[in-house]
Amino acid sequence: MLDIKDSVAVITGGASGIGLAVAHYWARQGGKLVLADVVEDTLSNAAAGIQGEVVTVTCNVTDEKDCARLADTAIERFGKINLVAPFAGIIKDGMMLTPDRSTGKVARKMPLEQFQKVLDVNLTGVFLTVRECAARMVDHGCRGLICLVSSTGSLGTAGQINYASTKAAMSVMPKVLTAEFFRRGLSERLRCVAIAPGYVGTPMVKNMPRKVVDGILEQVPIGRLVEPEEVASLIGELYRNEALAGDVFFIHGGLRLGSKG
Ligand SMILES: NC(=O)c1ccc[n+]([C@@H]2O[C@H](COP(=O)([O-])OP(=O)(O)OC[C@H]3O[C@@H](n4cnc5c(N)ncnc54)[C@H](O)[C@@H]3O)[C@@H](O)[C@H]2O)c1
Repeated sequence: MLDIKDSVAVITGGASGIGLAVAHYWARQGGKLVLADVVEDTLSNAAAGIQGEVVTVTCNVTDEKDCARLADTAIERFGKINLVAPFAGIIKDGMMLTPDRSTGKVARKMPLEQFQKVLDVNLTGVFLTVRECAARMVDHGCRGLICLVSSTGSLGTAGQINYASTKAAMSVMPKVLTAEFFRRGLSERLRCVAIAPGYVGTPMVKNMPRKVVDGILEQVPIGRLVEPEEVASLIGELYRNEALAGDVFFIHGGLRLGSKG
């Protein structure tokens, strides 16, 4: 079992939601933090509220140089990386096609920009963060976990062809990376998993229209949103328990998607 005390976590999307909850959890257990986000002032406010050792890096995860600088900062300040939590993510929901109610003809198509922007942050951004951090972990002999964030959206939520595609990718990456680490003789010290939350009470969900959130809650057996702290606690367990590798761990309060997604 690994101990969080004195371990170093690199968290993107760290100024808000799940990333920030994991940061608080990590600091409470005596871990050290490299907290990254694209919004500088919310990042420094978030860091100011954490009791523990925190370094902040303003970083756009779609930028290769920013991700390299983020990983370098962790090594320069703390000499190691133990948890990589690439949690920066966005949604830009919409149906791929929307027919006009009266004519039945297609009135709107999802613009390429709406599709591509979500892939840039949620997929390419994760690849760059993980590649840069994992490279430092290999070079500096670190032991630890890469914890991706998939979603129940990976199972196919209507209105999320962009987001769901990126989250499906997050559920295969742990298998790919675990196999690659195994082939390269690294898998005894480097693990990769994904968590797949349902609907968590963060700004990403709370900013949805009230009617949409109420409709979602009707489908959740526990009758409420999952708390970000509950997700943080799962990540803590995934970090400590080194038998957990190469798979996806759902945390959704019993939610199942129906045939209308
Ligand atoms: N909230 C949920 O219900 C839920 C469910 C499943 C998965 N997730 C995933 O968990 C992760 C965190 O979501 P959250 O609910 O905490 O969202 P959130 O909106 O509260 O936080 C996301 C953070 O990412 C940052 N960010 C966005 N683009 C960035 C970029 N290009 N570079 C760096 N930072 C950037 C934002 O500034 C924000 O602080 C996301 O990947 C999301 O898809 C969330």
